[in-house]
Amino acid sequence: MKTLAILNGPNLDRLGKREPEIYGHATLADLEARLRAEFEGVAQLEFFQSNHEGEIVDRISALADAKIDGLVINGAALTHTSVALRDALAGSGLRAVEVHISNIYKREEFRQKSLTAPACVAVITGLGLEGYAAAIRFLLR
Ligand code: DQA
Repeated sequence: MKTLAILNGPNLDRLGKREPEIYGHATLADLEARLRAEFEGVAQLEFFQSNHEGEIVDRISALADAKIDGLVINGAALTHTSVALRDALAGSGLRAVEVHISNIYKREEFRQKSLTAPACVAVITGLGLEGYAAAIRFLLR
């Protein structure tokens, strides 16, 4: 069975409470439960969320050393600012799919640039939470 990691960046711990008109009413726990149910017996899923850039970088390094089969990353605001996150992804050798719940291209100009996308094999943006499941299905191919 393949092992995939689902990494979520700053403020995604507040899903369900945070700007629900943009991000919806489901919580991060709801997302985890949905994905575990959908991929039970198909993939081993590891979830990690942090509001701290360095913790996410450290986690990517650990996942690279563990040679997992791929990762899904919603770097949240770090997507638009973090060279460290981009370098961690690029240096990990892992297949990564970047996911955004909202369509970042329909939003403010500062969100329309992703520093991390070039270190990923694909980007899914604007499918809501369904984007995570789509990314996992792709990585399992
Ligand atoms: C987000 C989009 C980012 O611009 C924002 O900073 C987030 C969430 C999304 O999932 O739509 O925190 O990554």
